[in-house]
Amino acid sequence: MALLLALLAFLLVAGDGQMLYKDSRQSIEARIKDLLRRMTLEEKIGQMTQIERAVASQAVVRQYGIGDVLNGGGSAPAERAAPNVWEDMVDDYQIGAMSTRLGIPVIYGVDAVHGHNNVYGATIYPHNIGLGSSRDPELVRRIGAATALEVRATGMPYAFAPCIAVCRDPRWGRCYESYGEDTQLVRSMTKIIQGLQGSPPPSHPSGYPYVGGPSKVVACAKHFVGDGGTVKGIDENNTVTTYRQLVQVHMAPYLDAIAMGVSTIMISYSSFNGIKMHANRFLVTEVLKNRLGFQGFLISDWEAIDRITDPPKQNYTYSVLTSVNAGIDMIMVPFDYQNFINILTGLVKSGAVSQSRIDDAVTRILRVKFAAGLFEAPKANRKLNNKVGAEDHRELAREAVRKSLVLLKNSARSGSSKNILPLSKTAPKILVAGTHADDLGLQCGGWTITWQGGSGQTTIGTTIRQAIANTVSQSTQVVYEQSPDANFVKDKGFSYAVVVIGEQPYAEIAGDNLNLTIPSQGIDTIRNVCSSLRCVVVLISGRPLVLEPHIDMMDALVAAWLPGSEGQGVADVLFGDHDFVGKSSRTWFKRVDQLPMNVGDMGYDPLFPYGFGMTMRQQ
Ligand code: GLC
Repeated sequence: MALLLALLAFLLVAGDGQMLYKDSRQSIEARIKDLLRRMTLEEKIGQMTQIERAVASQAVVRQYGIGDVLNGGGSAPAERAAPNVWEDMVDDYQIGAMSTRLGIPVIYGVDAVHGHNNVYGATIYPHNIGLGSSRDPELVRRIGAATALEVRATGMPYAFAPCIAVCRDPRWGRCYESYGEDTQLVRSMTKIIQGLQGSPPPSHPSGYPYVGGPSKVVACAKHFVGDGGTVKGIDENNTVTTYRQLVQVHMAPYLDAIAMGVSTIMISYSSFNGIKMHANRFLVTEVLKNRLGFQGFLISDWEAIDRITDPPKQNYTYSVLTSVNAGIDMIMVPFDYQNFINILTGLVKSGAVSQSRIDDAVTRILRVKFAAGLFEAPKANRKLNNKVGAEDHRELAREAVRKSLVLLKNSARSGSSKNILPLSKTAPKILVAGTHADDLGLQCGGWTITWQGGSGQTTIGTTIRQAIANTVSQSTQVVYEQSPDANFVKDKGFSYAVVVIGEQPYAEIAGDNLNLTIPSQGIDTIRNVCSSLRCVVVLISGRPLVLEPHIDMMDALVAAWLPGSEGQGVADVLFGDHDFVGKSSRTWFKRVDQLPMNVGDMGYDPLFPYGFGMTMRQQ
């Protein structure tokens, strides 16, 4: 009887007049099949087209059948836009999509790479280089879950995270986006995908996209493959290695991501032995789709198909042809979408791009949209608004800061029996100095509010100076001077100093750096302060920097990486409420002429080896 009823239900719904694809009781594959057969070529190509919010609108989405919208780093509906303003924007695109003939919802993607970092007031977690130093995959899963909630709280179902690059050269401007230099460490950190998307049941087929409900998001493992292995760490450049090494060092984390049901994978700007990844049909289709069984969708990087040619977009038709035929399913255009749509339409009509390739791409895109529940709940869940920057998320970020810190040096000045750390909370007078001591933007780094990041009160959080003031006794006088000269320090009765210095924020190619020296203002402050005071130096950086010439001036040195909005985590450890647990996710080189130098290499001669990290109990 039940079978008969089910059959009857199927027949009722499956009739041409009924939209089986809109019936959530049907399997995803049945819904895809029903929808695909109804779609025109124009509607299919619209699904493959991702545009930036700056050129998107309800009308554009409706007119072109655009399937996907994103905001690039720093692109926002307003300065310091509140969650509901983001939701109104995304819902507006959705209204356009839902009013098309077939009503296929838009999927809106955003770079939530260390929290929901485009959104003012969102919790900003340590960048991946710090999370890798925590060696705590469960912590990272929890961060993924909290980030998913904040992304959903702005009406968005899709995050371009995690970056699972294995950065092999810290001269790369994106090295801080990598969990570390060691493949096994990066593999362990792919657990964040279970936080972002949810954990699929054991019966879930490997490689099939999985999104576990309305508080989870579609994740995006990036950038496939070898982005962290380019020559001298030059961003978007050439990874020259054997296929075996490419697989063992850079591709292995994708096996874990695919096994966890990652729904999308972003292709790398870089090349493998001179072949652009965005034009590499063997690696993209033969390996990733056919051999590794990835069944979600592949998305290009930002204007990445333009850069298949040099100069970029020299032959856009060739770029579109090559990238789509390589197996890329969704193109992050993101502005010149009419041109893209016209060219791809022409290529299909001429037979240069097969209908089956288009159908494969659209099948994958629809698979992810169905898996994400977008057809059932296309619009924002307004009840989540209070999750952005929620107190429990900030506490989680504070925990992550504590666990990410790496203690590189802890000693006592001559004449003192005790190491300087942990610091006394009851010292009568202390000095806090340095360019990064009281600057939320600098401690967050790139990909924060804006693409490149910035300095000052760019969002909501606690600076390290504020954290120190929160921690010491009422009777302790905390003197803050950003860049004191030597006279400021002398004979002023300071018990000790905390000097917080480091790199200015950067993202992508803007961060490529062949010298890796500590900015001179920081060195001057170390010299002026530490020459006459016991001092702890806290280094804010996206990677190891040249230390040897300066380290003898310091009594203690902490690598804080890019800790994010919750600076309280730094004070928690400096004052001994928690001990250091961090183990460096990177080799700390002595000189840049040693690079690239990674754990296991012949002639390995670091200042501090991969995995180094002291505790305060160690003498
Ligand atoms: C950027 C990055 C990529 C990011 C995308 C969208 O250039 O390479 O990681 O997801 O564009 O912002």
